[in-house]
Amino acid sequence: LANNLALTPPMGWNDWNAYGCNVSETLVKQTADKIVSSGLAAAGYQYVNIDDCWMQHSRDSAGNLQPDFGKFPDGISGTAAYVHSKGLKLGIYEDAGTATCAGYPGSLGHEAQDARTFAAWGVDYLKYDNCNNNGSSTTEQYIARYSAMRDALAATGRPIVYSICEWGVNAPWTWAAPVGNLWRTTGDIQANYNSMLSIFHQNVGLASYAGPGQWNDPDMLEVGNGMSATEDRAHFSLWAQMAAPLLAGNNLVNASSTTLSILGNRAVIAVDQDSAGKQGRLVSSSGGLDVLAKPLANGDVSVVLFNENASTSTISTTVSAIGKSGASSYGLNDLWAGTTSSTTGTISASVPGHGVVMYRVSGGTTGGGTDTTVAIRGTGS
Ligand code: DGJ
Repeated sequence: LANNLALTPPMGWNDWNAYGCNVSETLVKQTADKIVSSGLAAAGYQYVNIDDCWMQHSRDSAGNLQPDFGKFPDGISGTAAYVHSKGLKLGIYEDAGTATCAGYPGSLGHEAQDARTFAAWGVDYLKYDNCNNNGSSTTEQYIARYSAMRDALAATGRPIVYSICEWGVNAPWTWAAPVGNLWRTTGDIQANYNSMLSIFHQNVGLASYAGPGQWNDPDMLEVGNGMSATEDRAHFSLWAQMAAPLLAGNNLVNASSTTLSILGNRAVIAVDQDSAGKQGRLVSSSGGLDVLAKPLANGDVSVVLFNENASTSTISTTVSAIGKSGASSYGLNDLWAGTTSSTTGTISASVPGHGVVMYRVSGGTTGGGTDTTVAIRGTGS
């Protein structure tokens, strides 16, 4: 969406994955504090996003949405003011149907009024869900419902990132670029390796649709929610390599130092946030051993070697396969180990099961090499 927002993938936090409906002003404020004190704000995490269950079950007599003041004593406006005072931005959730997934009032038919409410409260980001959508099924109906809120947000004059949450059911990558800043490509992620892997498979073939202001959204992060540290590093690396939004979905207040160090890996974040805005592509995939390449703005290429299987394997590729040529030697910066080495052509590493090795490759020129998209969406794997 050409609203000059989300020129790189949005970064921040959302309560849903860890808390479900147990959202509150206290949680949002404590999390905002932690985003700052942990260094995550300085690393780029900016949006503090409230998901479903923040409101009352009915509108007021004038038809306005009302916060649940038991959960948010200072309302959304007071919560937003606190988050803004920390140098962060506030996100909220609504639904493009008659009710949210949890049964609170939806925005269908109230788009302009609700957008004005959000703008007046100081909201900076809207996640717009797809439950109870009046049985709409055609792509035209999806476009109409989601465009109505796009236009309503624009009419407020407030910069508000617009996140389309229709779970990939109506192929939003084919129509949502002029409608929203990001669109979900899959159903909900869960905090286990198979869920993360399945979502990776569904999202990785969609690289051609992504770019500044328009991102594929393979759902929020589950880092710190139960996978192993190896799996969490793989998850975070794959999402960064796919230029996905990086929305932490864990309890940040009590997060372990390991979890914070994964979420805070600035070299990996730089790949996600690269200004060229290219989503990485699979350049090879065989027997569960994947190689992804993402061209970066300064001519470097980020490479992820991902071992989908349970046991350690060597994964190999070449500089030409990732699109580099023209030098006798290339630099390899290992983004998790923090070490540097060089290669004349082969890029190869022993990769633990369910893990990644991630390199930033420098030197030579980029482009003109292999640009194979190995699409594995729809394989059922
Ligand atoms: C479905 C979405 O996909 C989730 O991320 C979450 O927002 C829930 N709805 C809330 O009801």
